[in-house]
This record gives sequence, C-alpha cells and structure tokens, in this order.
Amino acid sequence: MALKTLPGGTFTLAGDLTVTRLGYGAMQLAGPHVFGPPADRAAAVAVLREAVDLGITHIDTADFYGPYVTNEIIKEALHPYPDDLHIVTKVGALRDAEGGWPHARSPEQLCQAVHDNLDHLGLDALDVVNLRVGGFDSPEPGSLAAQGIAYVPYFPLGGFSPLQSGELDAVAARLGAAPMAVALAWLLQRAPNILLIPGTSSVAHLRENVSGAGLALSADDLAELDRIGGEGR
Ligand SMILES: NC(=O)c1ccc[n+]([C@@H]2O[C@H](COP(=O)([O-])OP(=O)(O)OC[C@H]3O[C@@H](n4cnc5c(N)ncnc54)[C@H](OP(=O)(O)O)[C@@H]3O)[C@@H](O)[C@H]2O)c1
Repeated sequence: MALKTLPGGTFTLAGDLTVTRLGYGAMQLAGPHVFGPPADRAAAVAVLREAVDLGITHIDTADFYGPYVTNEIIKEALHPYPDDLHIVTKVGALRDAEGGWPHARSPEQLCQAVHDNLDHLGLDALDVVNLRVGGFDSPEPGSLAAQGIAYVPYFPLGGFSPLQSGELDAVAARLGAAPMAVALAWLLQRAPNILLIPGTSSVAHLRENVSGAGLALSADDLAELDRIGGEGR
C-alpha cells in the first residue's frame, strides 16, 4: 500500500527540516519492557520498512531503547536511509541493569550519547536530537514554551496501558471508529504543531493507525474530546 499523502500533512522544524506530522515511534521494537531484543526481529524490520513505504518521514528512537536494540534494527532495516527520512533520537537517560531509566544529563554523558546514536544508527550527523527532560510519568516544573516548537506527545495510544477515556469511547462509538483512530485524529486536529509518533510492532496496526489518523472529526467531536484534558469544564 503506497500512501504518500499522510493525514495531517507536514511540519517544518527549525525553518528547514520538514517531517510528516504522522510519524512512527520505534520504542515498541525492543523486547519486553523496552529491554533486550524483540521476539521477532524480522517483524520489527518489516514494520520499519512499511512505515517508510507508507510515506512516514519521522521515526522517533533513542539509544536507550533496548538499549541499542532499536537503533540497530533501524539501521538494519533502512540503511542507507532515504534522503527525506529524519530519524529523531533523544539523549538524557540511560538504562540500568534492572531496566530503570536513570537521568544521564551531564555534558560528558550527552556527548557520549550523541556518539553512541551516530554509531548505532550508522549516521554521520543527527538531524534532530531531543533532550529528554521531565519525569517519566508526569512533567517536572519548568517550561520550554516558545513559538514554532513542535510538541510530540508520547504514548498517544496509551503507552504501556490501554487508552481509558469515556469521551474517547463515546466519540468512537458514535462514529463507528476505533478509539485509537479517534485519539490519533484528535491529536492531529488539535494543533498544527502537534507531531505524532504512535508505536507498534505490527504492520497491521501501523496501517490501521495511518488510516485511522485521517478520520474526520466534527467541531462537536473535537469539543467533546478536548474535555479529556479538562478543557471546558
Ligand atoms: N520522550 C520520551 O521520554 C518518550 C517516552 C516514551 C515513549 N516515547 C516515544 O513515543 C512512542 C510512542 O509510545 P509507545 O509506543 O510506548 O506508546 P503508544 O504509541 O501510545 O502505544 C503503543 C501500544 O499500542 C499498541 N498499538 C499500537 N497501534 C495499535 C492498534 N492499531 N491496535 C491495537 N493496539 C495498538 C502497541 O501494541 P502492538 O505493538 O501490538 O501494536 C503498543 O502496545 C515510542 O515508540 C517512543 O518512540 C518517548
């Protein structure tokens, strides 16, 4: 299935780096709890190749997924990379022996993390490097707000827990759509600087997500969904 015009169109970062707003998050390609290799490496490779075939040009990753595993699978699947593909990685954390995610934000650690990403992805330069700030479960105090900065909400499909929202279920039931499709379509229509990186280890789910993100939502649907964040209450 070749689908080059993706729901949401594109967004330009820093004035000259254009990505599809509908991206792909690679974290689910590592093993259980984002630790170690996946049970089916060939399936992980297939998901990445399908993402690119569908026209996705934004893949989110990190060297601490696995660790190293996700980046190595991306390299195996896609290197040499298409010119328009932007692999966005992040630094600022490590994995410990128990699978924890300790901060790693010293200048030396950040420099090492950039070099590790370059090595494992097989790149000479990284297009975008996100500094992982904030807590894992909730934000930390402080603000990065500024005009034109892309907002990339992680866990757009609920992450490690299924989505649980009465508003989402109600709109999905009314439209005869899957709650996950409504979640993605809502985020794309909520603000033009929102980029999505839904994760999956399944080609079938990837296709569902790309198609579901194009679901048309009415103004009433959007107002109802906006109440998930406490707006309008
Ligand atoms: N910046 C950060 O600190 C940070 C933190 C966490 C994550 N991230 C990034 O955000 C991305 C997204 O997060 P995520 O992948 O953990 O969570 P997610 O996108 O919210 O949800 C992924 C989960 O949803 C399931 N899923 C996906 N599509 C589905 C479908 N159509 N039907 C049924 N189930 C479906 C996946 O299972 P299947 O594999 O079975 O499809 C997986 O269990 C990650 O890949 C990562 O790149 C960033």
